[in-house]
Amino acid sequence: MQIADTIEELRRIRRGSEAESWGFVPTMGFLHEGHLHLVRRARQDNDRVAVSLFVNPSQFGEAQDLANYPRNLERDLELLRGEGVDLVFCPSDEEMYPAGFQTYITVEEVARPLEGASRPTHFRGVATVLAKLFLLVRPRRAYFGQKDAQQCAVVRRLVEDLGFDLEVVACPTVREPDGLAMSSRNARLSAQQRAAAPVVFGSLKAAAARIAAGERDAEAVRETMRAVLDGEPRARVDYVSVADPETLEELEQIEGGALLSLAVFFGKIRLIDNLPIEAGDRPL
Ligand code: PAF
Repeated sequence: MQIADTIEELRRIRRGSEAESWGFVPTMGFLHEGHLHLVRRARQDNDRVAVSLFVNPSQFGEAQDLANYPRNLERDLELLRGEGVDLVFCPSDEEMYPAGFQTYITVEEVARPLEGASRPTHFRGVATVLAKLFLLVRPRRAYFGQKDAQQCAVVRRLVEDLGFDLEVVACPTVREPDGLAMSSRNARLSAQQRAAAPVVFGSLKAAAARIAAGERDAEAVRETMRAVLDGEPRARVDYVSVADPETLEELEQIEGGALLSLAVFFGKIRLIDNLPIEAGDRPL
């Protein structure tokens, strides 16, 4: 496994394998089983696999959230070695955002609601860092977790609009046995918060069951999600949403597919999750 911490080193390694297809898994490190699923999928689909480990400062709103983001480079490298990854890119902040940096990419409509409304500069940071990483790594395919459904939609738009020659592959959310979606942030939950956190997926399942039972009024479905979350005193709702799966605009009536999604605080830790509903889905 080759490790590059500078752009120059990454370019040198990448130039040595022009003919091969590269699969790329961009991450912010503190890897969990969800990331490793993406790596395994990239391994299956491509000749070579590259992973980036970079806690991207431009996608964090609060300095405190960035400072508290969990990190463990040595453990991450060990896990990636175990998965047979070919290249790891772990640049410093100065390498990615050198003094004088002033070029940012803004994806418009699809980045505005949901996460974009709660964290206004978040997707600008995500789009900017990913555009830079795509240009450097030059992957054939890039892998993302469906847990960040809006991020997947924003990345698809970015790739389409700027003409990146790569395929965006969204992989199913990996869950703990009690249904909690895997996330690096879960490590920051207290024992009590962790015990309460499965209510997030519980509210999505209750909403999906209500749709499967025939409910078509989106506000009634949002109400179901809120009611389940209100039953857990440690959960504080940021948003619940029943939106069009492509535009992410809130629905009034559920006529075809829908994306159920939500963000919930447990203390200062904010968790997100979602459940795509296909047109014609049956009870779970
Ligand atoms: O999903 C993440 O971990 C980050 O948003 C990403 C895609 C690595 C960009 O920093």
